[in-house]
Amino acid sequence: MAKYHKYVFDVKNRKLVGDFETMYQNESKENFDSWHQDDTRQLQRKIDLAILEDYNFSKIIDIGCGKGSLSHLLKKKNNYVLGLDISQTAVNIAQERFPDIDFLSTDVNQIENFSSLMNKMGGVNLVFTSEVFSYIENWKELLVEISKSSEYFMISLYIPENPIGFVKSENDLVEEIEKNFEVIEHISLNTTNFVIVFAKRKNI
Ligand SMILES: C[S@@+](CC[C@H](N)C(=O)[O-])C[C@H]1O[C@@H](n2cnc3c(N)ncnc32)[C@H](O)[C@@H]1O
Repeated sequence: MAKYHKYVFDVKNRKLVGDFETMYQNESKENFDSWHQDDTRQLQRKIDLAILEDYNFSKIIDIGCGKGSLSHLLKKKNNYVLGLDISQTAVNIAQERFPDIDFLSTDVNQIENFSSLMNKMGGVNLVFTSEVFSYIENWKELLVEISKSSEYFMISLYIPENPIGFVKSENDLVEEIEKNFEVIEHISLNTTNFVIVFAKRKNI
């Protein structure tokens, strides 16, 4: 089992542990990179970026940005990127590595945190989230909030069979997205169980 797993799920009791802060604090001591998130060669990441390449988004939020390796790839000379993560340690590392991006520690499962941030920012053009919704119990409510404040939405998520995480199936995820957005691309990687959905708000 990878070194980070014990901080994420209690596999025996099939429950979220979600101790992301301790996990990031222990990365350097125990010498691991949680989820190999610095490895941007992973196919689903290449696909995410290939889809987004055709668009220009002036304001982007990266939900659950971890140490910022994907936020960094979304940043261009002329746009604004804000990475959000529950772990202050991850945010500190990301900020140190990528000073031209803003990072903020917040728990997006508390929907009011996300909505008040969106109110302050006056909305955004893209909400991007990679490998996060499995840990967000209120992901359906969060999707509604995202649709109120962002023109576009991209999610990339690993959904195994019989998942412990809160997103229980690809169908469930896509149905919920379709309630709030119009789907532009929906890609399933059948051997690795990754799902990518890119969507735009209805009526734009
Ligand atoms: C699998 S990592 C994904 C990191 C990055 N997005 C990527 O794809 O490489 C999941 C991230 O979600 C963050 N996270 C989990 N629950 C969260 C919450 N309630 N609010 C904000 N971030 C959360 C974790 O701290 C972790 O950095």
